[in-house]
Amino acid sequence: MSTLARPESLEALRSRLIDGRVQSTLERLSPDELSPGEVLVRTLHAGVNYKDCLAILGKAKIITDFPRIAGIEAVGQVIESSHPDFRPGDPVLVHGHETGIRLDGGFAEVLRVPAAHLQQVPAGLTPLECAILGVPAFTAAMALERFEELGLARDSGPVAVSGAGGAVGMMTIAILARAGYEVAAITRNLDRAPVLQALGATEVIDAAVLNAPQRPLEKPRFAAAVDNVGGAMLSWLMRSMKDSAAIAVIGNAGGNTFEGSGLPFFMRRLQMFGVIANAPWPQRRRLWQRLGSDWKPDMARLLPHVHHIPLNQLMAQAERQLQGGTSGRTLVTFAGAPA
Ligand SMILES: NC(=O)c1ccc[n+]([C@@H]2O[C@H](COP(=O)([O-])OP(=O)(O)OC[C@H]3O[C@@H](n4cnc5c(N)ncnc54)[C@H](OP(=O)(O)O)[C@@H]3O)[C@@H](O)[C@H]2O)c1
Repeated sequence: MSTLARPESLEALRSRLIDGRVQSTLERLSPDELSPGEVLVRTLHAGVNYKDCLAILGKAKIITDFPRIAGIEAVGQVIESSHPDFRPGDPVLVHGHETGIRLDGGFAEVLRVPAAHLQQVPAGLTPLECAILGVPAFTAAMALERFEELGLARDSGPVAVSGAGGAVGMMTIAILARAGYEVAAITRNLDRAPVLQALGATEVIDAAVLNAPQRPLEKPRFAAAVDNVGGAMLSWLMRSMKDSAAIAVIGNAGGNTFEGSGLPFFMRRLQMFGVIANAPWPQRRRLWQRLGSDWKPDMARLLPHVHHIPLNQLMAQAERQLQGGTSGRTLVTFAGAPA
């Protein structure tokens, strides 16, 4: 496919519901078959999120109507646009707005996007940097902004990050470190400690700490926590927070339900809030501006943990990722994407 020509056909991983089961296969289709939008975009990179893995393997009801191309985020280059805000050649980003859920998403060589869902690649970031950061970094930035609104300061104490070896975990560590916070990374794989320290973790905690006998309240150690794991991890974090600390509940890689009591709330004034990366536009603009400037992590430290795969390896990657057998950030990178 030449750089900015409208292609006659494109390759996509398309998910269909067949006899009640999701089946995702590589297909060729015409751009006219994509869900509607004013802007046609050549996809450069599509982030592989935990949620995307659930969607294409049919492990959770993520996709709302079929057939659908999954992929909740993508960075690309405008091929053609009938909207005045976008012109051919513009580097653009889409995430959320039901992309890859109710509308076709990033796991395709070409994407058609409603202009109201699209933004220019933010200032201070190349298209590749923007793709590397993507939803994981945006989610971390949402948590950090809220922590600061709730009073977190650089001298408040360590911020815990669970699921530290995953995309959100690594990105959160790097952003918190850039913003000047102490970070306690929690991982099931202590061999990763040097990597997590190089990203900015000041302390690395073995997730096996959950196996110790539980007490109603543990030693108070964290001023804030970003929880990507849920289940027993979230219960332990709740019991381990300092007075007036906050937990951002982000993910469920380790389970959907958790046990807890009121003690952390009425003995230590714990606050908990949920994060959904599908933020309204003012917050998107504000946080992407920060991710391109004062919260931009050290990209050289992240780069060794970025894995590029072709579209035909996505299904295998998804299987491994859901089994917890991967680490770092994975991007489906399409032919012709600049390095
Ligand atoms: N709320 C939002 O808007 C939002 C946005 C993005 C992601 N998320 C969610 O955040 C979570 C993490 O996403 P991600 O993209 O970072 O996923 P990921 O790259 O697959 O990483 C998940 C990490 O969680 C840990 N983990 C995996 N399976 C586990 C298990 N069974 N028990 C305990 N720990 C386990 C692993 O870290 P270690 O090996 O280091 O222990 C793994 O690297 C997912 O649940 C995802 O859906 C939510």
